Amino acid sequence: MTATEGTSQAVRQPDGRFILQRYRDLLPITDQTPLRTLGEGGTPLLRSRVIEGELGLGALYFKLESLNPTGSFKDRGMVVAVAKAAEDGAKAVICASTGNTSASAAAYAVLHGLRAYVVVPSGRIATGKLAQAVAHGAEIVAIDGSFDDALRIVRELADRHPVSLVNSVNDHRIQGQKTAAFEIADELGDAPEVLCIPVGNAGNITAYWRGFTEYYHLEQSTKLPAVWGFQAAGAAPIVLGEPVAHPETVATAIRIGNPASWAGAVEARDASGGSITAVTDDEIMEAYRRLAKDEGVFCEPASAASVAGLMRKAREGADLSGQTAVCIITGSGLKDPESAMTIKATRHDSAAEVRDVERALGWS
Ligand code: F0G
Repeated sequence: MTATEGTSQAVRQPDGRFILQRYRDLLPITDQTPLRTLGEGGTPLLRSRVIEGELGLGALYFKLESLNPTGSFKDRGMVVAVAKAAEDGAKAVICASTGNTSASAAAYAVLHGLRAYVVVPSGRIATGKLAQAVAHGAEIVAIDGSFDDALRIVRELADRHPVSLVNSVNDHRIQGQKTAAFEIADELGDAPEVLCIPVGNAGNITAYWRGFTEYYHLEQSTKLPAVWGFQAAGAAPIVLGEPVAHPETVATAIRIGNPASWAGAVEARDASGGSITAVTDDEIMEAYRRLAKDEGVFCEPASAASVAGLMRKAREGADLSGQTAVCIITGSGLKDPESAMTIKATRHDSAAEVRDVERALGWS
């Protein structure tokens, strides 16, 4: 059965291989590249249960990149970038991060026996992500500044010291991340009409567009999707057409004012006939709650920007009938428990006796 025939089902990678093996010929892999894996890629393409019908789509899928080994899409890029660093003889990797890149870099550094140095904006990264960097033994520098400051600093550090930069300015990251587009086309039998994706530093939107165009030119797909990128309204430099000095949003993962892959995002938007638009924090949190409560998908706020954006497009009158759309769920909700705890919960405190619990539930 193909993905398009089922409803509400996850479709797994058919052959069980990981991305370095499965897409080897389309990746910068040599005989010297150490092919080590933590199990990245092969993530489910989940059919929407409720939102698809509400928006009048032909089909809506969520690509659950949150189910990668460290809980975000970064692992696809990091498995390539850190392997290439090891192949080149690096002893250490460095990155700036809003959290997920640092978690992933730290894990893949362990896999290859390298040191990891991560520079993050102090107090602005979700607890779970920091916990991952700590657990994997990364050396962490929390700066009194933004992600954009951190990226500027690590670029210079990588020029001055023998450390390999593994932010998405490293093309190996983009190469690895493009494999998600291959998986989508493989599993749907073709590219979808619409791709919805959150945009922060703009590496991922660049990677998806590269993946879809490569597949199209290799005649592995017959069409290209319209790429709809979404930034948070308080951190929307590409929408505004100029850098944002003090980006602000609940979606801390995409709290970025001057994306490194700006040009790649604009290329994806224009060449695909797509758009990059802003969604408010309220819209992001509404989509975040809807995904959790109506679809069973627990993601982080930045990921919900893709669904918030699709909902906004539908509200603004986009004709989605008969269209297949894929929303990229970029990171796991478990990384950011504070955001989840803002949801009004049905919680009762009770003594530890059946009668008390019955009373608390109103069953007696
Ligand atoms: N979603 C999540 C969960 C992210 O962590 C990021 C970026 C994005 C979306 C945006 O992807 O930057 O390629 O446009 N996180 C980076 C980090 C910046 O440091 O973890 P992008």
